[in-house]
Amino acid sequence: MSAESLKLQAESLKRMAERRPFLKKSTGINYFVLPKVYQGSTDTELLCSVLDLKKGEDLWDIGTGTGFVALYAKKHGAHYVLATDKNPAAVANAKRNSSFLNLNIEVRREDVFGGIKKKFDVIAFNPPFTDHQAKRSHEISFWDAGHVSVKKFLKHLPEHLREGGRGFICWSSFGDTRKIKRLARVYGLTPLEVGKRKGKNGFTYYVYKLNSNG
Ligand SMILES: C[S@@+](CC[C@H](N)C(=O)[O-])C[C@H]1O[C@@H](n2cnc3c(N)ncnc32)[C@H](O)[C@@H]1O
Repeated sequence: MSAESLKLQAESLKRMAERRPFLKKSTGINYFVLPKVYQGSTDTELLCSVLDLKKGEDLWDIGTGTGFVALYAKKHGAHYVLATDKNPAAVANAKRNSSFLNLNIEVRREDVFGGIKKKFDVIAFNPPFTDHQAKRSHEISFWDAGHVSVKKFLKHLPEHLREGGRGFICWSSFGDTRKIKRLARVYGLTPLEVGKRKGKNGFTYYVYKLNSNG
Protein backbone atom coordinates (compact mmCIF):
# COMPACT_ATOMS: atom_id res chain seq x y z
CA MET A 1 0.00 0.00 0.00
CA SER A 2 1.53 3.30 -1.13
CA ALA A 3 1.67 6.36 1.13
CA GLU A 4 -0.69 8.07 -1.34
CA SER A 5 -3.35 5.29 -1.09
CA LEU A 6 -3.05 5.30 2.69
CA LYS A 7 -3.62 9.06 2.70
CA LEU A 8 -6.76 8.61 0.54
CA GLN A 9 -8.06 5.96 2.95
CA ALA A 10 -7.39 8.25 5.95
CA GLU A 11 -9.35 11.05 4.25
CA SER A 12 -12.22 8.69 3.44
CA LEU A 13 -12.32 7.52 7.10
CA LYS A 14 -12.42 11.15 8.24
CA ARG A 15 -15.39 11.87 5.94
CA MET A 16 -17.07 8.65 7.17
CA ALA A 17 -16.88 9.92 10.76
CA GLU A 18 -18.13 13.41 9.96
CA ARG A 19 -21.00 12.80 7.54
CA ARG A 20 -24.69 12.74 8.42
CA PRO A 21 -26.86 9.59 8.10
CA PHE A 22 -28.11 9.07 4.54
CA LEU A 23 -30.15 6.63 2.45
CA LYS A 24 -28.42 4.59 -0.23
CA LYS A 25 -29.82 2.22 -2.86
CA SER A 26 -28.10 -0.91 -4.10
CA THR A 27 -29.49 -3.87 -6.09
CA GLY A 28 -32.99 -2.48 -5.52
CA ILE A 29 -32.62 -2.24 -1.72
CA ASN A 30 -32.77 1.10 0.11
CA TYR A 31 -30.77 1.22 3.33
CA PHE A 32 -29.46 3.71 5.88
CA VAL A 33 -25.79 4.51 6.24
CA LEU A 34 -24.87 5.96 9.64
CA PRO A 35 -21.72 7.95 10.50
CA LYS A 36 -18.60 5.82 11.16
CA VAL A 37 -19.89 2.94 9.02
CA TYR A 38 -18.59 1.77 5.62
CA GLN A 39 -21.37 2.59 3.16
CA GLY A 40 -20.87 -0.44 0.88
CA SER A 41 -19.63 -0.43 -2.69
CA THR A 42 -18.49 -2.73 -5.51
CA ASP A 43 -17.05 -5.23 -3.00
CA THR A 44 -20.36 -5.47 -1.10
CA GLU A 45 -22.41 -6.00 -4.27
CA LEU A 46 -19.90 -8.48 -5.69
CA LEU A 47 -20.02 -10.53 -2.48
CA CYS A 48 -23.84 -10.65 -2.58
CA SER A 49 -23.78 -11.74 -6.23
CA VAL A 50 -21.59 -14.81 -5.64
CA LEU A 51 -23.10 -16.21 -2.44
CA ASP A 52 -24.37 -19.65 -3.44
CA LEU A 53 -27.03 -19.63 -0.75
CA LYS A 54 -29.86 -22.14 -1.05
CA LYS A 55 -33.35 -21.34 0.26
CA GLY A 56 -33.66 -22.15 3.95
CA GLU A 57 -29.91 -22.15 4.70
CA ASP A 58 -28.35 -20.20 7.57
CA LEU A 59 -25.85 -17.41 6.89
CA TRP A 60 -23.41 -15.46 9.06
CA ASP A 61 -22.22 -12.07 7.77
CA ILE A 62 -19.05 -11.14 9.66
CA GLY A 63 -18.04 -7.46 9.59
CA THR A 64 -21.58 -6.59 8.53
CA GLY A 65 -21.20 -2.76 8.39
CA THR A 66 -24.64 -1.44 7.39
CA GLY A 67 -25.94 -5.03 7.46
CA PHE A 68 -26.38 -5.03 3.70
CA VAL A 69 -25.03 -8.52 2.90
CA ALA A 70 -26.99 -10.08 5.78
CA LEU A 71 -30.22 -8.32 4.77
CA TYR A 72 -29.71 -9.20 1.10
CA ALA A 73 -29.34 -12.87 2.10
CA LYS A 74 -32.48 -12.72 4.28
CA LYS A 75 -34.44 -11.10 1.46
CA HIS A 76 -33.27 -13.85 -0.92
CA GLY A 77 -34.43 -16.79 1.15
CA ALA A 78 -31.91 -17.40 3.93
CA HIS A 79 -33.50 -18.91 7.06
CA TYR A 80 -31.57 -17.67 10.11
CA VAL A 81 -29.15 -14.79 9.50
CA LEU A 82 -26.56 -13.55 11.99
CA ALA A 83 -24.82 -10.21 11.38
CA THR A 84 -21.84 -9.27 13.56
CA ASP A 85 -19.33 -6.45 13.70
CA LYS A 86 -16.72 -5.18 16.15
CA ASN A 87 -17.56 -1.53 15.47
CA PRO A 88 -20.53 -0.46 17.68
CA ALA A 89 -21.69 2.05 15.05
CA ALA A 90 -22.01 -0.79 12.52
CA VAL A 91 -24.02 -2.89 14.98
CA ALA A 92 -26.45 0.03 15.48
CA ASN A 93 -26.60 0.58 11.70
CA ALA A 94 -27.41 -3.08 10.90
CA LYS A 95 -30.13 -3.12 13.61
CA ARG A 96 -31.64 0.03 12.17
CA ASN A 97 -31.70 -1.41 8.65
CA SER A 98 -33.17 -4.68 9.89
CA SER A 99 -36.19 -2.84 11.33
CA PHE A 100 -36.34 -0.32 8.45
CA LEU A 101 -36.54 -3.16 5.89
CA ASN A 102 -38.65 -5.35 8.17
CA LEU A 103 -36.22 -8.23 7.68
CA ASN A 104 -35.63 -10.24 10.81
CA ILE A 105 -31.92 -10.89 11.38
CA GLU A 106 -29.90 -11.18 14.60
CA VAL A 107 -27.28 -8.47 15.07
CA ARG A 108 -24.51 -8.72 17.65
CA ARG A 109 -21.22 -7.08 18.49
CA GLU A 110 -18.41 -9.62 18.15
CA ASP A 111 -14.73 -9.69 17.24
CA VAL A 112 -14.71 -12.00 14.18
CA PHE A 113 -16.26 -15.27 15.49
CA GLY A 114 -16.29 -14.01 19.10
CA GLY A 115 -17.72 -16.59 21.49
CA ILE A 116 -20.36 -17.92 19.10
CA LYS A 117 -20.39 -21.70 18.71
CA LYS A 118 -23.28 -22.21 16.27
CA LYS A 119 -22.48 -23.64 12.82
CA PHE A 120 -23.64 -22.16 9.50
CA ASP A 121 -24.14 -23.17 5.86
CA VAL A 122 -22.57 -19.96 4.55
CA ILE A 123 -20.18 -17.56 6.28
CA ALA A 124 -19.08 -14.35 4.54
CA PHE A 125 -16.51 -11.71 5.52
CA ASN A 126 -15.77 -8.53 3.59
CA PRO A 127 -12.81 -7.57 5.77
CA PRO A 128 -10.48 -4.59 6.10
CA PHE A 129 -7.86 -5.14 3.37
CA THR A 130 -5.00 -2.91 4.52
CA ASP A 131 -2.22 -3.86 6.93
CA HIS A 132 -2.24 -0.68 9.01
CA GLN A 133 -2.95 0.13 12.66
CA ALA A 134 -6.51 1.36 13.37
CA LYS A 135 -6.70 3.88 16.24
CA ARG A 136 -10.44 4.70 16.22
CA SER A 137 -13.31 2.18 16.26
CA HIS A 138 -14.49 2.88 12.69
CA GLU A 139 -10.98 2.72 11.20
CA ILE A 140 -11.27 -1.09 11.23
CA SER A 141 -13.52 -0.59 8.19
CA PHE A 142 -10.27 -0.40 6.19
CA TRP A 143 -7.35 -1.17 8.50
CA ASP A 144 -6.25 -4.36 10.20
CA ALA A 145 -2.63 -4.35 11.49
CA GLY A 146 -0.91 -7.61 10.62
CA HIS A 147 -4.21 -8.82 9.06
CA VAL A 148 -5.05 -10.18 12.52
CA SER A 149 -8.82 -10.22 11.93
CA VAL A 150 -8.43 -11.94 8.55
CA LYS A 151 -6.12 -14.56 10.11
CA LYS A 152 -8.65 -15.22 12.92
CA PHE A 153 -11.35 -15.71 10.28
CA LEU A 154 -9.26 -18.12 8.19
CA LYS A 155 -8.10 -20.08 11.24
CA HIS A 156 -11.51 -20.66 12.80
CA LEU A 157 -13.76 -20.80 9.70
CA PRO A 158 -13.85 -24.64 9.40
CA GLU A 159 -15.07 -25.00 13.04
CA HIS A 160 -18.10 -22.84 12.24
CA LEU A 161 -19.19 -24.46 8.97
CA ARG A 162 -21.68 -27.31 8.75
CA GLU A 163 -20.90 -30.25 6.51
CA GLY A 164 -21.13 -28.89 2.95
CA GLY A 165 -20.79 -25.34 4.33
CA ARG A 166 -19.05 -22.60 2.36
CA GLY A 167 -16.88 -19.64 3.40
CA PHE A 168 -16.40 -16.47 1.35
CA ILE A 169 -13.89 -13.64 1.71
CA CYS A 170 -13.52 -10.43 -0.31
CA TRP A 171 -10.21 -8.89 -1.25
CA SER A 172 -8.98 -6.04 -3.40
CA SER A 173 -6.11 -5.18 -5.69
CA PHE A 174 -5.02 -2.54 -3.18
CA GLY A 175 -4.35 -5.40 -0.81
CA ASP A 176 -1.96 -7.95 -2.35
CA THR A 177 -4.14 -10.75 -3.83
CA ARG A 178 -1.25 -13.24 -3.61
CA LYS A 179 -1.18 -12.49 0.12
CA ILE A 180 -4.78 -13.56 0.81
CA LYS A 181 -4.34 -16.75 -1.24
CA ARG A 182 -1.09 -17.52 0.59
CA LEU A 183 -2.70 -16.86 3.97
CA ALA A 184 -5.70 -19.08 3.16
CA ARG A 185 -3.36 -21.96 2.32
CA VAL A 186 -1.41 -21.44 5.56
CA TYR A 187 -4.67 -22.18 7.39
CA GLY A 188 -5.39 -25.28 5.30
CA LEU A 189 -7.96 -23.65 3.01
CA THR A 190 -8.06 -23.71 -0.79
CA PRO A 191 -9.08 -20.29 -2.16
CA LEU A 192 -11.15 -20.41 -5.35
CA GLU A 193 -11.78 -17.09 -7.12
CA VAL A 194 -15.54 -16.87 -7.68
CA GLY A 195 -15.94 -13.15 -8.32
CA LYS A 196 -13.93 -10.30 -9.84
CA ARG A 197 -15.15 -6.77 -10.61
CA LYS A 198 -13.52 -3.41 -11.26
CA GLY A 199 -14.66 -0.60 -8.97
CA LYS A 200 -15.20 3.04 -9.96
CA ASN A 201 -12.03 3.86 -8.00
CA GLY A 202 -9.96 1.81 -10.51
CA PHE A 203 -9.21 -1.00 -8.07
CA THR A 204 -10.34 -4.56 -8.75
CA TYR A 205 -12.31 -6.50 -6.16
CA TYR A 206 -12.27 -10.27 -5.74
CA VAL A 207 -14.25 -12.86 -3.82
CA TYR A 208 -12.67 -16.18 -2.87
CA LYS A 209 -14.66 -19.22 -1.88
CA LEU A 210 -12.79 -21.14 0.80
CA ASN A 211 -12.82 -24.90 0.77
CA SER A 212 -11.40 -26.78 3.71
CA ASN A 213 -8.63 -29.25 2.83
CA GLY A 214 -9.36 -31.25 5.97
C1 LIG B 1 -14.94 -3.27 4.26
S1 LIG B 1 -16.09 -3.16 5.58
C2 LIG B 1 -17.40 -4.22 4.96
C3 LIG B 1 -18.76 -3.89 5.51
C4 LIG B 1 -19.92 -4.67 4.87
N1 LIG B 1 -19.80 -6.08 5.10
C5 LIG B 1 -19.97 -4.42 3.38
O1 LIG B 1 -19.61 -5.33 2.62
O2 LIG B 1 -20.39 -3.32 2.99
C6 LIG B 1 -15.34 -4.17 6.84
C7 LIG B 1 -16.20 -4.37 8.06
O3 LIG B 1 -15.54 -5.30 8.94
C8 LIG B 1 -15.66 -4.84 10.27
N2 LIG B 1 -14.57 -5.44 11.04
C9 LIG B 1 -13.25 -5.16 10.97
N3 LIG B 1 -12.55 -5.93 11.83
C10 LIG B 1 -13.45 -6.71 12.47
C11 LIG B 1 -13.36 -7.72 13.48
N4 LIG B 1 -12.18 -8.03 14.03
N5 LIG B 1 -14.49 -8.33 13.91
C12 LIG B 1 -15.69 -7.98 13.37
N6 LIG B 1 -15.85 -7.04 12.43
C13 LIG B 1 -14.74 -6.41 11.97
C14 LIG B 1 -15.60 -3.34 10.15
O4 LIG B 1 -16.12 -2.68 11.29
C15 LIG B 1 -16.41 -3.10 8.87
O5 LIG B 1 -17.78 -2.93 9.17
